[in-house]
Amino acid sequence: MSNVNVAVIGVGNCVSSLVQGVEHYRDGDAPGLSHPVCAGYAISQVRFTAAFDVNAAKLGRDLSEAIWTPPNNARGFATVPHLGVPVVEGILADGVGPGSAGAIDPRGGATPGQVAAHLAETGTHVVLSFLPTGAQQATELYAEAALAAGCAFVNCMPAVLARSPEWRRRFAEAGLPLIGDDLKSSFGATLVHRALVDALTASGVHLHDGHQLLGGGNMDFANLQDADRMKSKKDTKATGAGTSTHVSAQYLPFLDDRKIAYLRLDGTGFGGSPLEVEVRMVVEDSPSAAGNALDAVRHAKAAMDEGVGGLLGEVSGTLMKAV
Ligand SMILES: NC(=O)c1ccc[n+]([C@@H]2O[C@H](COP(=O)([O-])OP(=O)(O)OC[C@H]3O[C@@H](n4cnc5c(N)ncnc54)[C@H](O)[C@@H]3O)[C@@H](O)[C@H]2O)c1
Repeated sequence: MSNVNVAVIGVGNCVSSLVQGVEHYRDGDAPGLSHPVCAGYAISQVRFTAAFDVNAAKLGRDLSEAIWTPPNNARGFATVPHLGVPVVEGILADGVGPGSAGAIDPRGGATPGQVAAHLAETGTHVVLSFLPTGAQQATELYAEAALAAGCAFVNCMPAVLARSPEWRRRFAEAGLPLIGDDLKSSFGATLVHRALVDALTASGVHLHDGHQLLGGGNMDFANLQDADRMKSKKDTKATGAGTSTHVSAQYLPFLDDRKIAYLRLDGTGFGGSPLEVEVRMVVEDSPSAAGNALDAVRHAKAAMDEGVGGLLGEVSGTLMKAV
């Protein structure tokens, strides 16, 4: 079986954890990884072939160095050797929002044609997008490039792509797999919130309201301070939540890449008795995204091997917040 050749879009904290994870788990099973082998592929078969960003400080650097470049502040847990994968200039479009603009010197004059040529030259199979929340136009331009280069696309952020009938059709017609939208963390606030909703609903509790109050100190949280960008995150988090869910995100720089999540559910139980559930969680934000991203790229490549194109609905339902 061949490798899974992956191009990453956006060399931020999530990609830092992902690249470190491939090194950390290269030799097989170890705590923290849900699937050492997924869709027939081992972690050691995942290779990075291309990387795109628009932050001048990251461009031209090897991927192994760019993952440590500020404003990235994800926890280090692996030593990554030189990968021979330079970070190349991508397509800026609406990638950088007002919340993170002060921390980034933006470039990004590439065209979809240039991105497609680089994907083809590097033998990339799967394009994995970790663009900032709110980058709808940029997502679509990279998706065009992926189609032109004959690559599968995994959309790990909240832009509407896998939920769009038009993009589903285009990937299906091209015979290329599409997975999205907005990755679920392996263990995160969304998982706990939905598990609580399921357990309470199965017990007959009538839920009236849910809250997720989130705090974090990474660029993802800085970016979410912009109300327009936050809206698309609220949409994917509320999908499948089973009750009306209010989501807010506070940028707290002292937390670095840790995330504090306060979850609350209000309902009515047996005999009309009121019921409240409150949970406080603290997690490292970015590593919790990497495990499901590794599963997604391996499923995408396996579908390519079998000639399956279009939306991978079952995989997306398992690994993504909104399908
Ligand atoms: N646990 C998690 O952290 C988690 C889980 C699910 C989804 N997500 C989503 O993943 C996305 C990435 O999160 P992150 O924490 O890595 O963010 P980040 O801000 O650390 O990284 C984003 C990267 O994209 C780059 N970028 C901006 N515009 C670009 C463009 N047009 N082309 C190429 N690169 C561009 C930035 O320079 C930065 O390097 C967010 O949308 C987030 O909501 C994160």
